[in-house]
Amino acid sequence: MDTATASFRPPAPSPRQKPPSTLQMMRIVYRNPLELWGEPSYNEPWISISGGIGGPLLIANDPGLIRHILVDNAKNYKMARVRQKILRPILRDGLLTAEGEVWRRSRKAMAPVFTPRHIAGFARPMLKEAEAFAARYEERIGGTTDVSRDMTMLTFDILAETLFSGEIAGEPDSFAHQVDRLFETMGRVDPLDLLGAPDWLPRVTRILGRNSLAFFRDIVARTMEMRKEKLARKDEAPEDFLTLLLRAEGPDGLARQEIEDNIITFIGAGHETTARALGWTLYCLANLPEERARIEAEIDAVLASEPDPVKWLDLMPLARAAFEEAMRLYPPAPSINREAIHGDTYADLEIPKGMQVLVMPWTVHRHRKLWDDPEAYRPSRFHPENREQIGRFQYLPFGAGPRVCIGATFAMQEAVIAMAVLMSRYRFDLLPETKPWPVQKLTTQPQGGLPMKVSRR
Ligand code: HEM
Repeated sequence: MDTATASFRPPAPSPRQKPPSTLQMMRIVYRNPLELWGEPSYNEPWISISGGIGGPLLIANDPGLIRHILVDNAKNYKMARVRQKILRPILRDGLLTAEGEVWRRSRKAMAPVFTPRHIAGFARPMLKEAEAFAARYEERIGGTTDVSRDMTMLTFDILAETLFSGEIAGEPDSFAHQVDRLFETMGRVDPLDLLGAPDWLPRVTRILGRNSLAFFRDIVARTMEMRKEKLARKDEAPEDFLTLLLRAEGPDGLARQEIEDNIITFIGAGHETTARALGWTLYCLANLPEERARIEAEIDAVLASEPDPVKWLDLMPLARAAFEEAMRLYPPAPSINREAIHGDTYADLEIPKGMQVLVMPWTVHRHRKLWDDPEAYRPSRFHPENREQIGRFQYLPFGAGPRVCIGATFAMQEAVIAMAVLMSRYRFDLLPETKPWPVQKLTTQPQGGLPMKVSRR
């Protein structure tokens, strides 16, 4: 089969043929917002709704309009209320939820943490963790494993290692457990938030997470103290995120509390996202065995000649393309939400003050006017010779503009290293029960998991 045409259509909700009632809408938003969108959302450049449940709403699909909102007039758009209500209680002034001057100062202070040199320095720990994780499959050869769950564990191990180098206060296992609980209970859109209910009304969806949050913050605070003491003693400290963040502490840099908020932000933003994309990649490739075989051959050739994992991202364009195409169809962050600070216009579109603006990678990446056969998983779209045809503002897995994902290079490097380690040793195949359904929680998750058969290559 020719890779240029190799494709398959992975599961996704069909566009709605008629708008749901308000009650139905609330139910869908709670259960799975991806099921909300109708035909126009996948066909029109934008949809402006004046009487939405949370006030006027704009769905922006047109690349020019997206550029206007996220880049050219970004200063007029703040983080949307609903998103802040869900995330701020957990992440406080971490970079993802900070606004205004705090955000500007933090982003500047954090730039040195994410330099190419530091990201390159993380390649070895990423490889070490991926290899240690992969070895666990040896006991499961011929059996079934939930690849989705596995990828969360793998990216968590990588993040924990690059954050703290294993120097965590308390038991690492209890830390992992608290992370799980926290995001399971706190990451949900509460119907009360959508209705704009006042903050003092308790959100059942979040109460359960509070103990977890307190426990978790305590571990992070103690871990920071341990490291600070080590640095003060001038003991040799690892060059991980924690050391780099502590170096950014100071009057023009980060306050102590902000360092804690950012560690929690990295954990929140930096492992589930990559895990989801890796899981969907392995699932999609199991449906395209010929493409998978080509990627395996690419990986084998690179591993035989280039031991330095820093170089792999550039040397494995087919693996990278498979991952990028999985993020097109299943963007880990399916919706980027903003709110207009002042009234604005774009072409003949009026954007009133306070309008909620959705730039949804989910609909933009599946838009009929922007992509040929949008529902097909076709990695060749991202092969180097085709890559230029994809406009900057039609493919936004990491967002765009001043608030673009600060961890994008980290994530891409991590993904290709993980794919190289896993796919050089094992093959993950479909089972009759492999029937994932994409559901939007904080990320685009496969409901039902990804049960797959693991075998040695
Ligand atoms: C495949 C993996 C990832 C995806 C798809 C992803 C996606 C995104 C997106 C779409 C945004 C922009 C949100 C907005 O504009 O509202 C964002 C922001 C952010 N991401 Fe990522 N991310 C990934 C991995 C990571 C990693 C590994 C880290 C950290 C180690 C990270 C940390 C952040 C932070 C701190 C922000 C906020 C930046 C700011 O507002 O200045 N992300 N991410």
